[in-house]
Amino acid sequence: MSLLLGFGLLTCIASSESSSVFVLKGQDVRLDVQENVELKELEVFKWIFRSTNIVRCTDTLTVRVSPEYNNRVEFSEGNFSLLLKNIQQNDSGPYIAVVNGDKEKTIIEYLLIVQERVEPPVLTVNSNSTINDICNVTVTCRGQNTSVTSSCNNRTCSQVGGESRGAETSTVPLLSVYVAGGSIICNHSNQVSWAINTKEIVELCPLKSVSPPAGSMSVCMLKIILQSVGLVILIAAVITVHIRDRFRYG
Ligand SMILES: *[C@@H]1O[C@H](CO)[C@@H](O)[C@H](O)[C@H]1NC(C)=O
Ligand SMILES: *[C@@H]1O[C@H](CO)[C@@H](O)[C@H](O)[C@H]1NC(C)=O
Ligand SMILES: *[C@@H]1O[C@H](CO)[C@@H](O)[C@H](O)[C@H]1NC(C)=O
Ligand SMILES: *[C@@H]1O[C@H](CO)[C@@H](O)[C@H](O)[C@H]1NC(C)=O
Ligand SMILES: *[C@@H]1O[C@H](CO)[C@@H](O)[C@H](O)[C@H]1NC(C)=O
Ligand SMILES: *[C@@H]1O[C@H](CO)[C@@H](O)[C@H](O)[C@H]1NC(C)=O
Ligand SMILES: *[C@@H]1O[C@H](CO)[C@@H](O)[C@H](O)[C@H]1NC(C)=O
Repeated sequence: MSLLLGFGLLTCIASSESSSVFVLKGQDVRLDVQENVELKELEVFKWIFRSTNIVRCTDTLTVRVSPEYNNRVEFSEGNFSLLLKNIQQNDSGPYIAVVNGDKEKTIIEYLLIVQERVEPPVLTVNSNSTINDICNVTVTCRGQNTSVTSSCNNRTCSQVGGESRGAETSTVPLLSVYVAGGSIICNHSNQVSWAINTKEIVELCPLKSVSPPAGSMSVCMLKIILQSVGLVILIAAVITVHIRDRFRYG
């Protein structure tokens, strides 16, 4: 049993030596060799994907690109980096740089992971209620393959039931629901893209305002005063005109 566990651990360590590179489908990616490679006589540098030698470069810097990769790669003789263009799903996998001499030596290994752009999620409200002035909204957010249900107030959301996945390590798109800027936000993301859907909290939790704001009273008073003054002036004017007319014609 412990032997098996030990084996699992070893495999884990071995596989973690290659660094993962996430690429959005359709984009280019440059794989660098992170050391100064000096080829001795008769040594050959290669970038290998599965069993294909994508590119071979001899010590005299004679470069040969595999026909399958014509127009799809650019190799730099200067620093041995490889530019892979217009990455597609089947380009996923390990890319290994090696030097062949008396024996083969691995220079670096990358694990290329190709991802598609995530679709915008769909955010729906299941219920809303206001208890003791605290708003409680239950929402469900759906991505392509996953969904999460969360209970939110005006400050924060917490997931209701279901399991939460390790966000950083998972290559499956992640859904996260949180509150920011007065909105409930559902963020559907993977390592290369994200898309959100939002709902404004005010629309879900209408404030039951009872006492009018303090300022409104004085505004009201001012209105009454102004109206009264206007009325007094009007009456005065009418009386003045009347009296004057009386003096003139009377
Ligand atoms: C290697 O060379 C290419 C092309 O000249 C350049 O774009 C790339 O940045 C270089 N990489 C490093 C690590 O210097
Ligand atoms: C990926 O698929 C395309 C066609 O769909 C093919 O031309 C190409 O050779 C494939 N690449 C690899 C590395 O298998
Ligand atoms: C949320 O509450 C408001 C008012 O209390 C109501 O009009 C609205 O329909 C509710 N929305 C949902 C999705 O329950
Ligand atoms: C919010 O409402 C949901 C469903 O109506 C309920 O399960 C949950 O306990 C409530 N949360 C709080 C903090 O009141
Ligand atoms: C959330 O609601 C509480 C209680 O109604 C209130 O005190 C608080 O200011 C609100 N917070 C925000 C960020 O709106
Ligand atoms: C999502 O589901 C589809 C089929 O419904 C499947 O082909 C795809 O691999 C799934 N994607 C992820 C990231 O699990
Ligand atoms: C959504 O999530 C991604 C990945 O975690 C993050 O980079 C991005 O800033 C988030 N977007 C918003 C609007 O919060």
